[in-house]
Amino acid sequence: MRLERFLDELGSAALRDALGAEAPAVVRATADAKHGDFQLNGVLPLAKQLKKAPRDLATPVAAALGKSEAIEKAEVAGPGFVNLTLRPEWLAARLDEDLRDVARDGVPAVERAQRIVVDFSSPNIAKQMHVGHLRSTIIGASIIALLRYAGHEVIGDNHLGDWGTQFGMLIAGMRHFGSEDALATDAIGELERIYRLASERGKADPKFGDEARAELAKLQSGDPESRAMWERFVATTRVALDAVYARLGVTFEEWLGESAYDAMLPGVVAMLLEKGIAREDDGAICVFFDDVPELAKVETPFIVRKRDGAFMYPTTDVATLVYRRDHFHADRSIYVVDVRQGLHFKQLFAVGRKLGMTMRLEHIGFGTVLGDDGKPLKTRDGKVITLASLLDEAEARAATRIREEGLEVPEEEILSVSRAVGIGAVKYADLRQNRLSDYQFDWDKMISFKGNAGPYLQYAYARVGSIFRKGALDPATASGPLLLVAPEELALAKQLARFGDVVHDAAESCEPHRVCDHLFSIARLFSSFYEACPVLKADDAGTRASRIALCWLTQRQLGRGLALLGLSTIDKM
Ligand code: ARG
Repeated sequence: MRLERFLDELGSAALRDALGAEAPAVVRATADAKHGDFQLNGVLPLAKQLKKAPRDLATPVAAALGKSEAIEKAEVAGPGFVNLTLRPEWLAARLDEDLRDVARDGVPAVERAQRIVVDFSSPNIAKQMHVGHLRSTIIGASIIALLRYAGHEVIGDNHLGDWGTQFGMLIAGMRHFGSEDALATDAIGELERIYRLASERGKADPKFGDEARAELAKLQSGDPESRAMWERFVATTRVALDAVYARLGVTFEEWLGESAYDAMLPGVVAMLLEKGIAREDDGAICVFFDDVPELAKVETPFIVRKRDGAFMYPTTDVATLVYRRDHFHADRSIYVVDVRQGLHFKQLFAVGRKLGMTMRLEHIGFGTVLGDDGKPLKTRDGKVITLASLLDEAEARAATRIREEGLEVPEEEILSVSRAVGIGAVKYADLRQNRLSDYQFDWDKMISFKGNAGPYLQYAYARVGSIFRKGALDPATASGPLLLVAPEELALAKQLARFGDVVHDAAESCEPHRVCDHLFSIARLFSSFYEACPVLKADDAGTRASRIALCWLTQRQLGRGLALLGLSTIDKM
């Protein structure tokens, strides 16, 4: 169910019936149960508009709302809010419907599905994937899962940085200092080494620089040998990337890296010139944004062709826009990229508008992962942390914690469970933050069976399962009906009823942390419920059936929610 939407409609109807006004009801969940479950805020702006006392208007609205079978209590509060408390019987009947909806757990799909491209992960070839790419991968994958579950058609695209001037250096470097063996065993390490040596040599010896430029020109003109070398760099890097993606359980529909757009670039620049969107400046071709107030004063130029004729990151991104419009017919294009690229995307989207694009363009930014010292996360000796080593450590620490905690995991399953827990912990720690804020990487908080952490939720899921096992119950046969009597039952039920709103809000705003918050609330409310309300030993058959159904709803939401965040569930721990 979409509870908030339902109440919004109910509220609008009350405004119409009581006041004859067509106005938005603005119903929101309250933060504090003292003010009821929801609050209708729409009377205040309306009173201002009608120049009436808000409380006088709120009174008949509350009376109209009180007549609904969904509402137990509607009270005027504060300057003119209406506080709403749901009627337990009504809520129970709605949750009974969700219980029967095995396919979607009561979350309806959007009425109008959009086609959405999500550009995420997008690491650079010949370079170590860094923690920023990990964030993009984890957040992007969760946004995709959310949008799909909401009913949209989503294309995940890994926009690899697999093209550009660095390949001239790499090819020349490979010829001089490269080792085929090292490339085969540790491609990224070897390519980084070659690149370092090549740029040192380039600085010392101008002839080497010329050679690298000549290699680049050969590659760009399609020379088969250069092309083969480039392909090998890409393919060997892909092996390392694929290993990380496999561990994270992340897949892509498309791998349209920067190289995929190479042939479009001259045409893109010509088109921008022809439409008067770009012009020459000191030999380079740039887009200027004098007509875009937000960007008019920005110094950073948006260069689409350098003086030496080279195309740039912006050029490729303009080509990508055109491609996503013409090839994918996307309604919406989402870029999950570090906030520090914010200006680039503002400029890019302004170009999109100049081109008359109607596709909705969104930069979904995220902050930096910090180490203990409050600086961007690095290894102790100041190197970039490789993702593979980070995931290794997560799994090892998870295994240790599972043993310390004395969980019910047989020794032969420790490996697989600590994988699920360790990787899940890393993902959850990233997703639970408001994505725009920086956050401190903290192993102890991350791998915790108590706080707002992945392992705690995986444990909560398994714990509900243990109730079914203890009672030798097949939860799929749990059919309620729900009876919401104890305050703990009611509190859990009210949170469960919010799932549809949470999922849709999280999908629309691309904010997976909303799902994290919801799951954490569910897990805690379930704990209180389970402490206060015996399930298998309930006093009567009706209460028992109702509580089993609450357990089943809880476990399904936890499982569904964890899947939306990319965490695996563990049946027994
Ligand atoms: N490869 C870029 C980087 O590592 C990210 C690309 C993001 N996507 C895009 N269409 N610009 O910073």
